[in-house]
Amino acid sequence: MSKLFTPYVIRGLEIKNRIWVSPMCQYSSQEGMPTDWHFVHLGSRAVGGAGLVMVEASAVSPEGRISPDDSGIWTDAQATAFQRITGFIRAQGAVAAIQLAHAGRKASTAVPWKGGATLSTREGGWIPWAPSAIPFTDGDPLPHEMSLDDTRTVIRQFEEAAQRSLAAGFQVIEIHMAHGYLLHEFLSPLSNRRQDEYGGSFENRIRLPLQVARAVRELWPEELPLFVRISASDWKAGGWDVEQSVLLARELSAIGVDLIDCSSGGLVADAKITAGPAYQVPFADKIRREAGIATAAVGIITEPHQAEEILQSQKADAIFMAREFLRDPYWPMHAASALHAEIGWPKQYERARR
Ligand SMILES: Cc1cc2nc3c(=O)[nH]c(=O)nc-3n(C[C@H](O)[C@H](O)[C@H](O)COP(=O)(O)O)c2cc1C
Repeated sequence: MSKLFTPYVIRGLEIKNRIWVSPMCQYSSQEGMPTDWHFVHLGSRAVGGAGLVMVEASAVSPEGRISPDDSGIWTDAQATAFQRITGFIRAQGAVAAIQLAHAGRKASTAVPWKGGATLSTREGGWIPWAPSAIPFTDGDPLPHEMSLDDTRTVIRQFEEAAQRSLAAGFQVIEIHMAHGYLLHEFLSPLSNRRQDEYGGSFENRIRLPLQVARAVRELWPEELPLFVRISASDWKAGGWDVEQSVLLARELSAIGVDLIDCSSGGLVADAKITAGPAYQVPFADKIRREAGIATAAVGIITEPHQAEEILQSQKADAIFMAREFLRDPYWPMHAASALHAEIGWPKQYERARR
């Protein structure tokens, strides 16, 4: 019996399978609003059979965007624009999820196909926010070191974004604490050199991420799950690592976070990452076992039997896939056939079923 296609019940939500679309920036928003591109891109993956479709990192404030073309959910108009997309995803029997993000010191860059370089204010960029005035890349302008007032602002922005996510029809929120963005920057001693209650000790570095998670959990409906994505390792000596991730996961679990989505890296440009098939699964496995919380695995998982084995061996509870879903939106249909699992196809496509 395929575990990949066994429904997953989490709080009051049943997710029809365990193959989920990982958040992927499309750099195709206008004023933070999703466009027809998002409707087709996300909608196709729901048609293709994914159990959960997660919208890309969506900024909780304008300065929290990676690029000017990022998705956002800091206005009611943005929330309303998402309703058509969440409605379509849910009509396919998939769960509509959104990743809430603040890009921190990695904000204000050009979109990748325009080179991805830092944008100055003259080029339509802005001054990024960060725990400490240390740029991501040497030579970049110094980010704005957040005041205590700014930390309260960020908490409020995540709260408001969560409220809007509910109004937009999302059923799962994932808080982005990974990939070197703002909350990860607070976690890691490499980017956080603060002297106040938000820096220094482990307890101080995890303070803002926990405050954000607690604030979101308090207003997010009891029956709906809350996920957190972390970078389980900075892949750099003296940085954030998997041991600290286990401790953080325990704290998040106590707050009512339901699942840790285990990614890695992104904090510093010179990290030595040994990437390969399923290379981040050991993080999901360790955090699941040692923190006693559900985890999702992500990263170079591309084959049905590989995904199935990760779940069968109880290294994770679900699989997020990103690039393979760009290559093949119908991956779940193909995987079901490879794993001899019976899944429903859209009735419109039934005649193509062999
Ligand atoms: C085009 C693209 C955009 C991405 N955007 C995001 C994002 O918005 N948030 C995030 O947490 N990760 C993002 N990622 C990382 C993916 O979610 C995923 O963790 C990573 O690609 C590894 O999985 P894969 O090997 O299945 O692609 C992005 C990856 C790609 C390829």
